[in-house]
Order: sequence, then structure tokens, then C-alpha cells
Amino acid sequence: MDIQSVGVIGAGQMGNGIAHVMALSGYDVVLNDVNQQALDAAVSQIHKNMSRQVSRDKITQAEMDAASKRIRASLALADVGTTDLVIEAATERETVKQAIFEDLQPHLKPNTILTSNTSSISITRLASRTDRPERFMGFHFMNPVPVMQLVELIRGIATDEETFAACKTVVERLGKTAASAEDFPAFIVNRILMPMINEAVYTLYEGVGNVESIDQSMKLGANHPMGPLELADFIGLDTCLAIMNVLHDGLADTKYRPCPLLTKYVEAGWLGRKTQRGFYDYR
Ligand code: CAA
Repeated sequence: MDIQSVGVIGAGQMGNGIAHVMALSGYDVVLNDVNQQALDAAVSQIHKNMSRQVSRDKITQAEMDAASKRIRASLALADVGTTDLVIEAATERETVKQAIFEDLQPHLKPNTILTSNTSSISITRLASRTDRPERFMGFHFMNPVPVMQLVELIRGIATDEETFAACKTVVERLGKTAASAEDFPAFIVNRILMPMINEAVYTLYEGVGNVESIDQSMKLGANHPMGPLELADFIGLDTCLAIMNVLHDGLADTKYRPCPLLTKYVEAGWLGRKTQRGFYDYR
């Protein structure tokens, strides 16, 4: 199937990054959100990120202008339904995602491929609530989307080969690399990354190190570009907690128990960079 247009649902940091790279690769993009303010913020974030790429000679001004024209911000799910490939990138909550796919259903063309950018939720379960489980799969980008090379492609139990191949072609056109993952809790990247972040929070909780020494240890001692606590702030502590809960519930192993300190930060509304406060203070 030849994909020409992409609908992105959710204009947060993942959604605006996905719209950005899709438009730069020549796809017509409908960027959808329930909130006009979120759409406006996403469009200005995309402008800022593309301008940075222009200033660093990664793309030309003409490429930026053409890509910007390919992005249509819309509050209407009906506009998303006209596209060939839908990537849902809303909040990491299963009920929210299910409601979106249910609301989208009446607007869909018969052939549209449905995907979710979920970082941990069962693709098979999300797919089972739609009319096309064979044309449904996981399409998981890493943050920041314009920079990170990997996209995890996750087959649900019913995903057909044509759908997988079509999504793989899109990843290649983006100039990114696809990793194929089976549909088990948190797939590959977050199955490995989140327990490490959670362990870093335990290391803080138990007083083994402080925020700075933990991050410095992993940056200088393991050559990670960001320390685990800085990375948790960057991803969002609510997202980290949600993924740990999916691992804990889905694999029923105490080794995935979320650190109580992570839970406490989320309960305080200290969610990392997006709320200006997490393990670091950004105010
Ligand atoms: N859009 C476009 N370009 C961006 C960007 C954005 N949002 N953010 C950074 N960049 C570009 C910069 O322009 C710069 O480009 P050049 O090399 O061409 O100059 C490059 O990225 C590096 O940026 P900076 O110099 O500003 O900063 P840095 O060197 O400290 O790198 C970083 C920033 C790329 C974020 C780096 O710290 C990093 O790789 N961190 C780890 C990120 C990571 O692990 N991501 C995965 C998170 S897990 C996930 O996403 C899965 C999940 O489901 C939770």
C-alpha cells in the first residue's frame, strides 16, 4: 500500500516530533488534538525545531517552508480519517487511547492503517477494539523524534504482513531504522531502559548517591548521553511510572516494582521538564 498522508493524534512532544519528521519526508500531515492551545504550541515547537535544523545546515530553508505547508493542524478527528496512516500519540493511558480509536472509527477510510506510538501498552488489546486488527500495529518513536534514529515496529497478534511492510517502508523513507518487536509489555527499548531508570530512582531513594552523582556516574562511567534521572525528567516522570506499572502488572514480577519515590514525585505533580520540576528544578 502506498502511503501519502499521515494523521497524527496528539500534539504533545511525541506528536509534534512525528508530524515534523513526516512532513520533512514529504508526507501530508494532519496534526490533531482536542485542544487548540496544544495545537498552537505544537506548530510553534515544530517551527522552532526546524529553524534549529536550518541554522545547523541539516535542512534548507526551502525544505522547511515546504514541510511546514504540508502540516495541517486540526481539531476534527474527521480530518484524520482521510489519511492513509494514523499514528496515535496521545497520553500513555489505555482508556484514552481506546476512546480515541472508537471516536475515529466512523471517519476512517477502509484501507487506513491504524498505529499507536504507545511505549508500553498491548498492541493486541488496542487492536481488538477496532474494526481492523490486521491493519493495526505499534509505531514507536524515540524522543526527541527528529534526532533519534530508531523506530520500534510492533506486531499485534493479528497484524498482517502487508501492514508491517507498509510501515517499514515509511520508517525507511524517514531515514530511520526499524527494529521489529513482539507485543509483550514495553516491547524492547522500554523493557530495558525503564528498569534502569527505576533502579536509578531506588539508588537515590536509598541514599546510595545524590541526583548529581547518580547522573554523573552513568554519563562518565557508562558513556550515556544523559544521566538516568535527567533522562527521566526529559521523558516525563508520569510516563516512566506508567511504563513501570505496565511492566509490573503485565509480567507480574516484583523486579518491576515502581520505586515509591517515583510515585511520590508523580503524585506531587513533579513530572520533569514539562512541569518545570522533577529530579531537577528548571524554574
Ligand atoms: N528537534 C530537532 N533537533 C534536535 C532536537 C529536536 N527536538 N533536540 C536536539 N536536536 C539536535 C540539535 O540540533 C543537535 O543537532 P546537531 O548535532 O546537528 O548540532 C543535536 O540534536 C544535539 O543537540 P544539542 O547539542 O542541543 O544537545 P546534546 O548534544 O546534549 O543532545 C540529546 C541532546 C540528543 C537529547 C542527547 O542528550 C540524547 O541523545 N539524550 C538521550 C535521549 C534518549 O535516550 N532518548 C530516548 C528516550 S526513551 C524514549 O523516547 C522511549 C520512550 O517510549 C519513553
